[in-house]
Amino acid sequence: MSSSIRIAPSILSADFAALGAAVRAMDEAGADYIHIDVMDGHFVPNITIGPGVVADLRKHSERIFDVHLMVSPVDAYLAPFAEAGADILTVHAEAGPHLHRTVQAIHALGKRAGVALNPGSPVSLLDEVIDEVDLVLVMTVNPGFGGQKFIARQLDKIAALRRRIDATGRSIDLQVDGGVNLDTAQKVIAAGADVLVAGTAAFADGPDHYRGNIAALRGAG
Ligand code: DX5
Ligand code: ZN
Repeated sequence: MSSSIRIAPSILSADFAALGAAVRAMDEAGADYIHIDVMDGHFVPNITIGPGVVADLRKHSERIFDVHLMVSPVDAYLAPFAEAGADILTVHAEAGPHLHRTVQAIHALGKRAGVALNPGSPVSLLDEVIDEVDLVLVMTVNPGFGGQKFIARQLDKIAALRRRIDATGRSIDLQVDGGVNLDTAQKVIAAGADVLVAGTAAFADGPDHYRGNIAALRGAG
């Protein structure tokens, strides 16, 4: 089971003055995805990375660029991030009134489409798009900042989505983001998650520890 677990270090926990080095180091340490948190200062109370930064980071790694768009409205930014080199574009179900159209737009750009749910959002928000998405992201903190405490109530949502995804018969990543550490990784894997985003836990103790951090999270189940 744990061999199918993929780890997506979030560069939100990196030194922003040295993001290229951070991406290279996580690539070399065995990261499956590079998770890039895009925050607009509107949908979430923080501002981070634009498409120009993603384009420059693209030169540092060929790993899957997993771009988490905490942006509302988001549609105007899909093409710029696609052109910058994103492989997965994940949008929030809460971020706009036309989720189905947004998912279609991501696919039209030739990218994998993810949909994220905030902790306060029900699984039912995905009912009408689940057959079209490539990734579902369960937020286990309220988005905006790294280093927050895992919200354990979300474990039931992860388990419900595992059942819902299996019922589709399609290959859909079930990703978890927020407060993932060795303890909570074990719980989310048991609940059915197969892609773990980790900021604090992946970057803990500096570059010499990245490989061990990733391996430990991968093996936590
Ligand atoms: C939060 C971001 C996360 C964050 C996770 O809004 O989406 O990706 O970086 O950080 P940790 O793992 O420290 O909770
Ligand atoms: Zn994220």
